[in-house]
Amino acid sequence: MKGRPDLSVKVAGVRFSNPVLVASGTFGYGEEYNALIDLSKLGGIITKSVTLKPREGNPPPRTVETPAGMLNAIGLTNVGVDRFIKQKLPFLRRLNTRTIVNVAGSTVDDYLKVVKRLNRCKGIDMLEINISCPNVKEGGLAFGARPESAYECIKQIRDHTSYPVIAKLSPNVTDIVQVACAAEEAGADAVSLINTLVGMAIDVEERKPVLANITGGLSGPAIKPVALAMVWKVAGAVRLPVIGIGGIFNVQDALEFILAGACMIQIGCANFVDPQTTVKIVDGLNRYLKERKIKRITDLVGGLRTG
Ligand SMILES: Cc1cc2nc3c(=O)[nH]c(=O)nc-3n(C[C@H](O)[C@H](O)[C@H](O)COP(=O)(O)O)c2cc1C
Repeated sequence: MKGRPDLSVKVAGVRFSNPVLVASGTFGYGEEYNALIDLSKLGGIITKSVTLKPREGNPPPRTVETPAGMLNAIGLTNVGVDRFIKQKLPFLRRLNTRTIVNVAGSTVDDYLKVVKRLNRCKGIDMLEINISCPNVKEGGLAFGARPESAYECIKQIRDHTSYPVIAKLSPNVTDIVQVACAAEEAGADAVSLINTLVGMAIDVEERKPVLANITGGLSGPAIKPVALAMVWKVAGAVRLPVIGIGGIFNVQDALEFILAGACMIQIGCANFVDPQTTVKIVDGLNRYLKERKIKRITDLVGGLRTG
């Protein structure tokens, strides 16, 4: 095949140069990784969740390693929307990649206040609405846990912004498909899944939980099969673009999510292990398509053969 394959994807009218995004909370506000990777090679950057007021987060210890991943109970530490706009957004605006701002809140009104401030800014391509953080009550799981409240939260946001809206879904529910359908009905432009799974670790000498928050959110290779099954189910049930997240560490993982129906993917805690993971996955996707003479990455989306 002559030339490079086409890795570009379009979601809600926004064109991304490739389908590889970084997951909220694992990449700061982008600037933190500037010296480590060429940020223009990313499809887009998703910021740490931004809340109305600055948050210090939970007391330490807030993270612990597990056999196939990590538990975190950071508690949405962030600078708050006003400082985000003043101090963090200008850097992101200058980059030659897409910027998705992740928004969290404890009430619908909180979300709306953040969204309304972001509406006045330049340099934001999309919003990702975190209705799925398991670690604080302000994290939105109160909304993401039930289809009715997910609908209400996303609908209100939809009615108050012209940015494309991604609803970020929680795996800590009985049926994630129902929540995805509610988000679609409410007017979301895409869904992303999954956020972390609730887990815990115990110190048997102390007979105490390892995390000060007692429970935390599990991420990494341990959650990949769970995430993959949820992405496949949701992709079969909604017409919206699906963005896959959960334990993606290499190009093989990325391809599995794409075949299951994800048109884009997010790399989370793999960024902590190797900051080059995203760039390696972009290169790997190029190589995979080229070797198989597949012209466009979009030709692979949902290409799983189940029959
Ligand atoms: C340390 C840490 C902080 C996170 N913070 C956020 C956050 O602020 N907002 C959010 O929507 N998700 C947050 N997440 C969840 C990730 O975006 C992602 O959904 C999850 O880690 C699963 O992907 P992974 O297995 O590739 O890490 C965080 C995850 C980690 C590990």
